[in-house]
Amino acid sequence: MDNLHPIIHAAGADERVPDWAVMSPARIRHAGRVGTLMGDWAEALGRDAATQIRWRAAGLLHDALKEAGLEALRPLVNGAEEWPDALLHGPACANRLRAAGVDDEPLLRAIAFHTTGHRDLGALGQALYMADFLEPGRIASGRERAGLRRRMPDDWHAVLVDVATAKIGVLIDAQIPVSAVTAGFWEAITAPR
Ligand SMILES: [Fe+2]
Ligand SMILES: [Fe+2]
Repeated sequence: MDNLHPIIHAAGADERVPDWAVMSPARIRHAGRVGTLMGDWAEALGRDAATQIRWRAAGLLHDALKEAGLEALRPLVNGAEEWPDALLHGPACANRLRAAGVDDEPLLRAIAFHTTGHRDLGALGQALYMADFLEPGRIASGRERAGLRRRMPDDWHAVLVDVATAKIGVLIDAQIPVSAVTAGFWEAITAPR
């Protein structure tokens, strides 16, 4: 048995979402594919069984509140007015998990910043950022995504930068403001190493 919080264990080991999740069947399938991809990467990296469960759980849970109404999401996030509506479901889900007793900060940060990126994302957070974009159910640019998936997890950093380039590029092409947190993430991952 692992020491994971029951919600995390249920999600990562048994593909069960908490009763407060607001997810359509299609959303659960998306999140399940993200979790499967992340679990496969953790396994390929030789991470232990508990870590594989934890990574799978982050994938399954990241969009647990994606379909909750804004009036339900806003009270869950301090400074909600600073977040664009479309991004609120990440920090709201992290805080809902925290309220349920989950204290795994890297996992909570991964979920909170899965859409935006964050300069302090660790391996789990970077994996979620990439897997959300690369999961095989996303049809648009399917060949490019499959090509990036094939390079994982070995070519981790280069794929991370490629995924960020694609995601941030969409914002730039549409002249949508790039948030400070995303700019900080970009700065961190492209800094000379
Ligand atoms: Fe999301
Ligand atoms: Fe997602």
